[in-house]
Amino acid sequence: MSTEKLLAGKTAVVTGASSGIGRAIAESLGSAGAHVVLGGRTPEPMAASVAKITTAGGSGEAHVLDVRKVDEMRAFVAHATESTGRLDIMVNNAGLSHPEAILEESDPEHWRVMLETNVFALLVGSQAAVGAMRACGAEGHLVNISSVAAQRADSGVYGATKHAVNCINNTLRRELMEDPIKVLTVMPGAIATNFARNFDSAILQGLVGMAGGGEAANVEITKGERLPDEVLAGAQAAIPGHLCTPEDVADAVLWAVTRPASVHLSEIVVRPKRDLNL
Ligand SMILES: NC(=O)c1ccc[n+]([C@@H]2O[C@H](COP(=O)([O-])OP(=O)(O)OC[C@H]3O[C@@H](n4cnc5c(N)ncnc54)[C@H](OP(=O)(O)O)[C@@H]3O)[C@@H](O)[C@H]2O)c1
Repeated sequence: MSTEKLLAGKTAVVTGASSGIGRAIAESLGSAGAHVVLGGRTPEPMAASVAKITTAGGSGEAHVLDVRKVDEMRAFVAHATESTGRLDIMVNNAGLSHPEAILEESDPEHWRVMLETNVFALLVGSQAAVGAMRACGAEGHLVNISSVAAQRADSGVYGATKHAVNCINNTLRRELMEDPIKVLTVMPGAIATNFARNFDSAILQGLVGMAGGGEAANVEITKGERLPDEVLAGAQAAIPGHLCTPEDVADAVLWAVTRPASVHLSEIVVRPKRDLNL
């Protein structure tokens, strides 16, 4: 059996790689041999992921950026391609939700941050990445992270951003018809990540409860802040039928980007067997 890594010689960029799904995708692509450029706001977990990738025999680098800033996003993609002279895989993953009713409850600044992060940054990242892939003649992959919320008609402002992602991806696929660049829409269901950070305090407290005893029992969690790893791992282990792991999504992405050039995948849904009904 060949020991050559599936993504040897490829370069991948992942946004939102400091946590959850993006971090798992970055580690998976790096372990498969890609040079991975991680982008996010929190440096420590990205440094730990680069170390993990290096131990697995790959290479990576981490950059702190705010994906909502056009200049920062463009510079991030440009820097990634400077290091290796190429770009093969771009994963626009950074995103967040403020699950609030539109009338009365919602803060318009929460709408703005969801639209800017989930939609605007993904557009800027996709445009920059296609430019870089075309410049090096890559048979590239644009992997844009949507949500099962895009499959529901009434999924709120967050869902509206993910409907927009699906529409953008379908449009990019049409615009890239003559290019060797594929566009993949990934729609995760409930995954145990820091995505829950903006959920109601009662739901966050419920996660701690699910996580059960041990270290998780003594942790304090604050709405809006990253959740302790032991709470996320404990909650996922307690209800695996209701919560997937970030690695489940990363496995699907790795599989998709390692198919033969003739295979065109447009959408993948990774979801638990049962709905959480939050
Ligand atoms: N978890 C789920 O159940 C679920 C379901 C469907 C879809 N999704 C989608 O999956 C994607 C990843 O979410 P996740 O579940 O992995 O959540 P997560 O653990 O909260 O990760 C979100 C990532 O995005 C980064 N980020 C957010 N705003 C940013 C900004 N302005 N600039 C740079 N980085 C920014 C975060 O950085 P910091 O942590 O450093 O702030 C973090 O690395 C999102 O697009 C989300 O909508 C998640």
